[in-house]
Formats: sequence, C-alpha cells, structure tokens
Amino acid sequence: MKKLRVGVIYGGRSGEHEVSIASAASIFRHLDPARYEAVPIRIEKTGQWTLGAKPPEAISAAAVITQARTDALQVVEPSAAIAATGLDVIFPVLHGPYGEDGTVQGLLELANIPYVGAGVLGSAVGMDKAVMKTLFAAHGLPIVRHLVVLRRQWSGATGPTAASVARELGYPVFVKPANLGSSVGISKAKSEADLGGAVELAFEYDRKIVIEAAVPEAREIECSVLGNDDPQASVPGEIVPSREFYDYEAKYLDETSRSIIPAPLGRAQTGEVQRLAIAAFRAVEGAGMARVDFLLARQSGEIFVNEVNTIPGFTAISMYPKMWEASGLPCPALLDRLIALALERHTEKQQLRTSIT
Ligand SMILES: Nc1ncnc2c1ncn2[C@@H]1O[C@H](COP(=O)(O)OP(=O)(O)O)[C@@H](O)[C@H]1O
Ligand SMILES: [Mg+2]
Repeated sequence: MKKLRVGVIYGGRSGEHEVSIASAASIFRHLDPARYEAVPIRIEKTGQWTLGAKPPEAISAAAVITQARTDALQVVEPSAAIAATGLDVIFPVLHGPYGEDGTVQGLLELANIPYVGAGVLGSAVGMDKAVMKTLFAAHGLPIVRHLVVLRRQWSGATGPTAASVARELGYPVFVKPANLGSSVGISKAKSEADLGGAVELAFEYDRKIVIEAAVPEAREIECSVLGNDDPQASVPGEIVPSREFYDYEAKYLDETSRSIIPAPLGRAQTGEVQRLAIAAFRAVEGAGMARVDFLLARQSGEIFVNEVNTIPGFTAISMYPKMWEASGLPCPALLDRLIALALERHTEKQQLRTSIT
C-alpha cells in the first residue's frame, strides 16, 4: 500500500508558536511510519513558510523556547509549500491567529487539498470569543453573562461601559481579547479599580474584547470531540491550575498544573458535559476535532460552556489526546481517525455541484 503523504504545518505567527512546535513534535512521533510519510512545513515567527526542517523533538513548550536551530531551511511561498510537496492530506497544527482562525484553512480550500479539523467558518468562529458566544446562545447552550466592547466604545473607567459592567455583570470579571488564545491578554478584574487596566491590556491584542462575569470558584472541565457529522465525545477531564486561574504561565511554563482524567464528576454531570460538548461543536460548525472547555461553579454545580478550540494542544501532556486515550483511543489511532475524517470530508465536498450547468 502506498503511504499517505501528510504535511504537518506548524510553528506560525501567533504567540503560540512554541506550543505549536511541541504539538507537532508529538504528532510526528505518533503518526504510524508504516502508513504515513510525514512532511514538516514550518511557519517561522516572521510568517515565512519553510521546507526542510527536521521534525521537532517531542519536548515541552518551555524547552522549545530555548531550543537552538540548525536546520537548512528553504523559504517558499505558502501555496508553493503545498503544491511542491505532493501531499495527500494536511494536518495544520497551528494554535491561535493565522492558523487556527480559518486563514490557513482558506488557503487549503483554494489548493483543494484535504486537511484535518474545522473548515474556514468553524475555525474563524472558534477563534472569536464574541461570535462564538452568540452562536452558543442561539443554540440554547449555557454561557456566562458578558459584554462585547470595541475599542472606540470604551470611554475609560468612569464611562458608560464601566457602568454597564458594574450593573449587568458585577465583580469580579474576566477581560479578554476576542481573538486570541493561551490566556494571552486575559486578566481578572476583582473590582472597578482594576477594570481600566484589564481593558487596556486586552485592547493591546485586539480591537474587540469580551468582559464576562467570573464563575465563582470555577472548576475547569474539558471534553474532546471527534467526528464530522456524527461527532463523539470523550470522557471529560479536569484541570487543576497551579495559579489563581489558568493563565499562560500555568498552561505552559509552570508544570505543576495537574489534570485529572476522567474528571471527578457524577454520572449525570459527565453525561451533561458530553452532550454540551457535542452541541457546542455543532454550534460552531466544527469538523474533525475540537476540545470544548467548560467552567463549572464549584458550589452550585452550574455548567457553562466557555469555548471551543478547533486545533487543541497535542503535546505529550495535552488534554485532547489524553482524554481520548482514557476513552480507549490511543494517539496513533486518534491520528488515523483524524486523517480519515479529513479525507471523508474532502471527498464529500468534491461531489457537490458548484454551478447550475
Ligand atoms: N468567566 C470566567 N470565570 C472564571 N474563570 C475564567 C472565566 N473566563 C476565563 N477564566 C479563566 O481564564 C482562563 C483562560 O480563559 P479562556 O476563555 O479559556 O481563554 P483562552 O482562549 O486564552 O484559553 C480559563 O481557563 C479560566 O481559568
Ligand atoms: Mg481556554
């Protein structure tokens, strides 16, 4: 049997460049060499696309940051990287803007090549926390109370937006750039005095921000989803952050955050998380894979859908593959399934009529 050539696109322009390299390393390591030939396509931090990189070693994101580089790289146009390499399918392993947000998926659509994960629409929606919440609400999913604010609407800590925050949300609130991930630019404002600083910080990263009511003593529950039109949910997991909330440090640099899989939840709550995970996946037009994150109020047990990540972390310690492993699907089989889903979706699309003649 001819091996499938799988292009793994990783690195990228976003702040999650190093995490992406760590995710890609774990994918290179688990792709079955009997079935696949893996081709590294690396996007440098400058945005340049390069061929010829050695597959990254499976190490943590913190180690990647200090790793020396010795590869002989060939800089190519993005479309040339896809055309020149004779690939059968692409696995984009890019977290955050310019990769997880539909931009790369658009390029792959134009190249008419199968790729793993959500399409343009699902990727774009999954990157925008404001639009994502609108869709969750339209599908009747439980979300936290929030406000969406554009830079030009913000008139300082004594203006009308600040008054709306106090009136409609109350404190504490979380303030987030709408389009980012890895907790970058996110902070918690415990009182009105903190709001201005939190808002200014978030506006450094985006012209649109989301201010949301804090879930009291939030537990962080996550669930992996896999499939196209008939998605399945894994056993849920729980993250116990090492810091006050699951910020960038806690996620990638400080390795004392713990995960518990399966999450210690009752049977009914587990079922509810899985049901909501699939509904959230469908609401954003997910495909292939997504990790759905929840916030659970510790005392009341109330569950809120927080976000969908259409290209979840895939590092050795990442929740997406670990939750599938705990559900009976080890990483190599998970990758087989993701590639099959990419091919299926592409084949189905090829059969559609594109004109009326
Ligand atoms: N409404 C909230 N209530 C309580 N904690 C929150 C809330 N929103 C975010 N957090 C905390 O901040 C972290 C990052 O927020 P999140 O919306 O998941 O952004 P990102 O896309 O960067 O992961 C969460 O994992 C959680 O620890
Ligand atoms: Mg998150």
